[in-house]
Amino acid sequence: MKILVTGAAGFIGYHLCQRLTLNDQAEVLGLDCLNDYYPVELKRARLVQLEGRDNFRFVQCDFAESTAFWAIYEHFKPDYVIHVGAQAGVRYSEVNPSAYVHSNLVGFANVLEAVRRLPPKHTVFASSSSVYGADAQVPFREDSPLGKPLSFYAATKQANEAMAFDYARNHGVFVTGLRFFTVYGPWGRPDMTPMLFAKAIQEGQTIKLFGEGRYRRDFTYIDDITEGVIRALLYPPASVTTPPFRVFNLGHNCPVEMIQFVRELETAMGRKALVELMPPQPTEMPETCADISKVKAATGYNPKVSLVEGVRRFVEWYRGYYA
Ligand SMILES: NC(=O)c1ccc[n+]([C@@H]2O[C@H](COP(=O)([O-])OP(=O)(O)OC[C@H]3O[C@@H](n4cnc5c(N)ncnc54)[C@H](O)[C@@H]3O)[C@@H](O)[C@H]2O)c1
Repeated sequence: MKILVTGAAGFIGYHLCQRLTLNDQAEVLGLDCLNDYYPVELKRARLVQLEGRDNFRFVQCDFAESTAFWAIYEHFKPDYVIHVGAQAGVRYSEVNPSAYVHSNLVGFANVLEAVRRLPPKHTVFASSSSVYGADAQVPFREDSPLGKPLSFYAATKQANEAMAFDYARNHGVFVTGLRFFTVYGPWGRPDMTPMLFAKAIQEGQTIKLFGEGRYRRDFTYIDDITEGVIRALLYPPASVTTPPFRVFNLGHNCPVEMIQFVRELETAMGRKALVELMPPQPTEMPETCADISKVKAATGYNPKVSLVEGVRRFVEWYRGYYA
């Protein structure tokens, strides 16, 4: 089967390509524009790990450039599409919203248009726990109404779900949105708290914890996420479903306070953190927690990696990469 993975040089896309090319059942085309939201050398280093796999090819392309993207898409003719390329990051979306319009709105529309014109069996795309908004009740359930977005990033992810729903209803596209919950692990994103905190502990800098360190996050280990994405991909919405659209939470269902996450990092790194407790931040949710019963029932998804084990693996990679 031929699988197109967008955002292939990104944190989650890279791990998906790794996992999908472990055996020769899939032929994977990884696509990424290698934007410089964070150091491109990390993206290139991820791609180096995939070099030499006969069933993996990489192409540098911006999926918001419709002509170039369509030509690649049409040539490859994927059986499945995993669209995890996007402009990520909550706080940056208040600084540079146009990057989000470009990749998450224009780019997302291009991907939908491609799958409408030449339909794969199934398309899955990255949504986010951020779609739940300020007043969501924990644990977050897929059938609860979406609240007001707390950031422009969250607004684009809500828009993505609405756009995909339209393509399912009006064009019969089979599509699943996956609401990821705070993904962490080796080869992670330098703008996310695990990397920021590890760097601060390593360099003796102060970690500022908003919401007095009491914000709770449903940290989900990368291998559990890739497992969930692939399960969702291979179990498309039933054809009797009208429209063939659904969303799943992909989380751990085990939230921890940020201060607890710092303590786990301290243990794994063998160093104390300098912590400064800060007031709440307007773009941050007080708590995220995924109800995962829907994806469990549909695909058998069952996250396995504990926070202690996940942080240990993350620190092991971090030390090696930044040595
Ligand atoms: N990491 C998390 O905890 C998390 C949580 C919720 C949702 N998500 C979503 O999951 C997806 C993957 O996140 P990630 O953590 O791997 O982020 P990432 O930034 O590491 O990866 C995204 C990749 O997409 C590429 N990209 C961006 N715009 C593009 C364009 N126009 N054309 C081609 N490539 C483009 C970037 O270069 C980058 O390599 C994103 O949609 C993100 O919003 C991630």
